[in-house]
Amino acid sequence: MNTPSTILSAIPRRLHLQPDHPLAITRQLIESRFLDYKHHNTLFPVVTVKQNFDSLGFPADHVGRSRTDTYYLNKDTVLRTHTSAHQADIFRKNESAGYLISADVYRRDAIDRSHYPVFHQMEGARTWDRESLGQSKSLEEAIWADVAKIPTHSINVGDPNPTFHPERNPLQECHSAGEVEAIAAHLKRSLEDVVVAIFNAASSAAAAAGEISASQDEPLKVRWVEAYFPFTSPSWELEIFWQDDWLEVLGCGIIKQDIMDNAGVPNRLGWAFGLGLERIAMLLYSIPDIRLFWSTDPRFLSQFSSGEPIRRFVPFSKYPACFKDVSFWLRSTSSAAGGLSRNASSPVDFHENDVMEVAREVCGDLVEDVRLVDEFTHPKTGRKSFCYRTNYRSLERTLTNEETNELHERFRQQLVDKLGVELR
Ligand code: PHE
Repeated sequence: MNTPSTILSAIPRRLHLQPDHPLAITRQLIESRFLDYKHHNTLFPVVTVKQNFDSLGFPADHVGRSRTDTYYLNKDTVLRTHTSAHQADIFRKNESAGYLISADVYRRDAIDRSHYPVFHQMEGARTWDRESLGQSKSLEEAIWADVAKIPTHSINVGDPNPTFHPERNPLQECHSAGEVEAIAAHLKRSLEDVVVAIFNAASSAAAAAGEISASQDEPLKVRWVEAYFPFTSPSWELEIFWQDDWLEVLGCGIIKQDIMDNAGVPNRLGWAFGLGLERIAMLLYSIPDIRLFWSTDPRFLSQFSSGEPIRRFVPFSKYPACFKDVSFWLRSTSSAAGGLSRNASSPVDFHENDVMEVAREVCGDLVEDVRLVDEFTHPKTGRKSFCYRTNYRSLERTLTNEETNELHERFRQQLVDKLGVELR
């Protein structure tokens, strides 16, 4: 078990279901683009290792499985790290051709303004049944007929790679090139339609805030890039050009046929995608810090309403930040000083995510980011030292000096107690 109570206490929050919460509004906006899909919005976050990893073909040594990345409740049970954990179960139920899942997901990760150990994903999938097609139509024709039903758009989409590639992004043996071209077209058009809907809502918000020129000067630019996931092939990611950079917003691909076979629906084939709701909501509302989603401050919550057009978030005043450094030596590796012994347990044991977690546990949402600023290896002993800079800032008030000093002192002490480091 490596799951602190602060993480468990997020489970009942279900932000994606809170009326008028920006994550719930973002969810509804996307759901409105997938009309006949079945929605699953209350799936419980505790899942088996089998659901989260094995059923999706994650290799036994995949980093995602490690205790540094995933919250375990016991050796067979985790807090889901992605909504894909439910794919096999939903395919097995075989209730609808398309579905959407929105849910909280949990990952041990860095601390900064766009990462939080609990966040929300939306997953979607659409499948077709080879058997249930009428005699007159081929599967390909049937899928292309569905592609034609998706609203068209006129945005600038970059798609430089072939739909599949024998080495980089292979077809599965059981799929023909024509089938994959048709499914990929349905997938890409469906997701482009979502992005256009979000961008239109965001531009109206910008216009309402008097920033018309910003959205007029910069037409929406998106591009498809090749990707890899253990449970899809070929796979792609969609990126949006945002504030001078390409931002990855979703991963997707053609579902591996093994998953369908194991779920008892070997005749079905299709696509799946997964996107981060926080990331989309941050774009949509210009929300500057991911911690805000967890705020219960009415100055935050009162700015969102599902019945009204999207309006830009107006930050309440930015309270001062205060940074403090902590430097420490990793646990010494007794006999390994000569560097010959490879079996010493430290410093291999050290993982940055453990520092992040101690910071979260001690400081809660009063920590804005934690960054490695210096790293040093003693030339003689080979011992390693790190210096981390912690930025303390409340989103709701000014912290007093005493308070930050006290937080930082507790942080330092917990690093010693929990990770066995030696402060410098
Ligand atoms: N589950 C993947 C992730 O969390 C996203 C994904 C979903 C990719 C479905 C492909 C298909 O990164």
